[in-house]
Amino acid sequence: MNRRKFIQLGALTAPLLSARKSFADSFDQSTKPIVISTWDSGMPVNAEAWKILSANGTALDAVEAGARHIENEINCCVGLGGYPDRDGIVTLDSCIMDHQANCGAVAGIERIKHPVSVARKVMENTPHVILVGAGAQQFAVENGFVLEPEALSESAKKAYADWLKKSEYKPVINIENMPVDNRIKKQNGPFAPHFFEDGTANHDTMGLVAMDVTGNLSGAVTTSGMAFKLHGRVGDSPIIGAGLFVDNEIGAATSSGTGEEVIRICGTHLVVEFMRQGYSPEKACRKAVERIVNRDKEKAKTLQVGFLAMNKKGEYGAYAIQKGFVYSVKSDNENMIHTSKYLI
Ligand code: GLY
Repeated sequence: MNRRKFIQLGALTAPLLSARKSFADSFDQSTKPIVISTWDSGMPVNAEAWKILSANGTALDAVEAGARHIENEINCCVGLGGYPDRDGIVTLDSCIMDHQANCGAVAGIERIKHPVSVARKVMENTPHVILVGAGAQQFAVENGFVLEPEALSESAKKAYADWLKKSEYKPVINIENMPVDNRIKKQNGPFAPHFFEDGTANHDTMGLVAMDVTGNLSGAVTTSGMAFKLHGRVGDSPIIGAGLFVDNEIGAATSSGTGEEVIRICGTHLVVEFMRQGYSPEKACRKAVERIVNRDKEKAKTLQVGFLAMNKKGEYGAYAIQKGFVYSVKSDNENMIHTSKYLI
């Protein structure tokens, strides 16, 4: 290279190098690793994810471990101990997404304890993104997952019997956050069954997003979905862009609440796009909530949806339609439950 060319090249690359440096500088200020998850039941989920993050593990492994932890809880409404549909069958939805936009999901899967791990296998071992129902179960069994007994937990059995008396779907806003005393207490523990004495119940969704020590983002969601739903109903949780979205350049978001409303606005994709426009995680979540509420203000009064997001700096925030949405955060700096702001 002659001198003239070298000087020209230097002039061209200098701004690039300095831009790269300033990005690196701001990146170095970020909080990482960090994991955030929906609801107060996210505390033990975060603790499980933290074991991996604090040992320099990947965000992908951390979110899977967190989701598996809550799927193990027999008295939690996320896994097989959760609410049945109106035919008395527990069907589970889950998805997972990594920093390269690889993603996998299962919907309406029955008798499999860890749908999040099946979702990961869909992501890693197939050319597809979503498997549903019998096909998802077949895939799980072929990949070594055990077919669990077709039984409801004791509390789910009772709640279903009560519900059958009226067969009336009655959503209960924020049931996840109701005082435990208002629920049927089958066993003590952090995951009290989320059924009321009158048999009404709604749903829990565990959504979590993590950033690992390298700055990569991943997320996972797992749920039994809406209680007493029509058999075959799929909510937002296994839908990439609705219940979960990860864009490793910008941030990631997850949601909890009435899945149909989240699907209608591609909720978590929208939150990430608002962050791309420069909004903070909290403001981005608020703008997505506004999108739901502005569509039908009267209907919104009867619903709950909460969004939870993290940006690439490890800043996080949430927003909900109604009072009562909470979320859990774990990093080197904190280990606590936060209360979300709300719109109405
Ligand atoms: N957000 C969970 C569901 O609607 O199924």
